[in-house]
Amino acid sequence: MNKSEIGIVGLGVMGRSLAKNVAGKGISISVYNRTTFTEQEVVADFLKANPSEFIQGFTQLEEFCESLSTPRKIILMVSAGSAVDHVINQIKPFLQGKDILIDGGNSHFKDTQRRLLQLKHENIHYLGCGVSGGEQGALHGPSMMVGGSLAVYSQVADIFEQIAAKDTTNLPCVTLVGPNGSGHFVKTVHNGIEYAEMQLLAECYAFLATYYSHNEIAAILKEWNKTALGSYLLEITQQILLKKEGDDFLLNKILDVAGAKGTGSWAAQSALELGVPATMILSAVAARAISQQKERRKKWSEEMKPSIQQDKIDPDMLRQAYQFARLINHHQGFELIQTASESYSWDVNLSELARIWTHGCIIKSKLMEKLVTILDEEESILQHSSVLRDWKKGENALHIILNQAFSLSIAIPCISSSYNYFISMTTHESPANLLQAQRDFFGAHGYRRTDHADDTLFSTKWNLDG
Ligand code: 6PG
Repeated sequence: MNKSEIGIVGLGVMGRSLAKNVAGKGISISVYNRTTFTEQEVVADFLKANPSEFIQGFTQLEEFCESLSTPRKIILMVSAGSAVDHVINQIKPFLQGKDILIDGGNSHFKDTQRRLLQLKHENIHYLGCGVSGGEQGALHGPSMMVGGSLAVYSQVADIFEQIAAKDTTNLPCVTLVGPNGSGHFVKTVHNGIEYAEMQLLAECYAFLATYYSHNEIAAILKEWNKTALGSYLLEITQQILLKKEGDDFLLNKILDVAGAKGTGSWAAQSALELGVPATMILSAVAARAISQQKERRKKWSEEMKPSIQQDKIDPDMLRQAYQFARLINHHQGFELIQTASESYSWDVNLSELARIWTHGCIIKSKLMEKLVTILDEEESILQHSSVLRDWKKGENALHIILNQAFSLSIAIPCISSSYNYFISMTTHESPANLLQAQRDFFGAHGYRRTDHADDTLFSTKWNLDG
């Protein structure tokens, strides 16, 4: 047998699709899957379903590693967490110096940094690669965010460029984001932005559903999708709304309790750790947590009985509010990446990152295409004159939608969080002077004064009663 150019460990949904993508490009590939009780036939079934001269399948790691040309290039497509460490430990005895392991799962960036350092001592190269696009993306071309060294990335770049999605100028949607954990970090923030984008659409749906039918809402979203608001998530939401099971819409039968695998909370945690006000990601994560409190929501809604009136609502006002909120979401997400890039000295090119997110990934959109230029011209989305104009235009719509949603008792945490952020960030004098005084009152933490230009801390004996 000829040696394969690349290997994949893990034939789950993403691993299978990626392997088919690779073989479809005429690149020889070896695949491996473990043979636990429930996974005995995974490799055999895969080979049967995908007969190809470019694919070899293995159930023994040693044989799998022997089938690869050296230095070996192996993509791990296993669940994030301890499974990655487990596979690394199992495969290590069959590797040799300069082989390259690539983690293509949704790993925490700090795990990637740790693994990279550990393997460095054993002369094994490591790349952390965020892969976005779900099953279809992996099959037809995902967006790929690589973290690691340029010298190592250069050895896999040719294959990655062939399997990645292509942008409008036919450039591959893959890039070396920066060193070590940067690829997995930006994938985590991608997912944070994804959480907020999904939540915004859920809020629009809740708002519109007080007055319009499923068919009407789908028609409204279809129109939005033809405008600058067009996106993959808007497109699939419109299709979801129309899906029927029997006489009823399937959506009406889906329990309103949202799952989460963890990347959204990691994005939120990173934002808090780095002091970045990514309020929309925080709100979106909290909204999923609230959705999980189904029993209490049921009980308390019976006790509170919010009065929902069927008021006429204006979809165009909602469209403007949605557009406004999406700008804030993207602004906050890219700010989070920029701050991490500065803190960890990653030197991430935000415009290039936006470019590889224009195709292949879940948050691909017309807005993302616009951001490629905006982030090339300005460090921050908020600073760009065209964005400022759009934000100002959306403000009136925000007033109307927030008023109406609250009078209808509809929770719109992400939309309202976007407006609170906007107001806060465009308010010169905030009430944080009171926070400083309170801190000083109970803890003598000190405060800086407006009549002193330097950083001197003052403290006051506040308690008048002694
Ligand atoms: C992607 C997706 C993908 C996955 C999410 C789901 O970019 O292809 O983000 O990675 O669908 O991790 O995350 P939750 O289960 O937390 O919603």
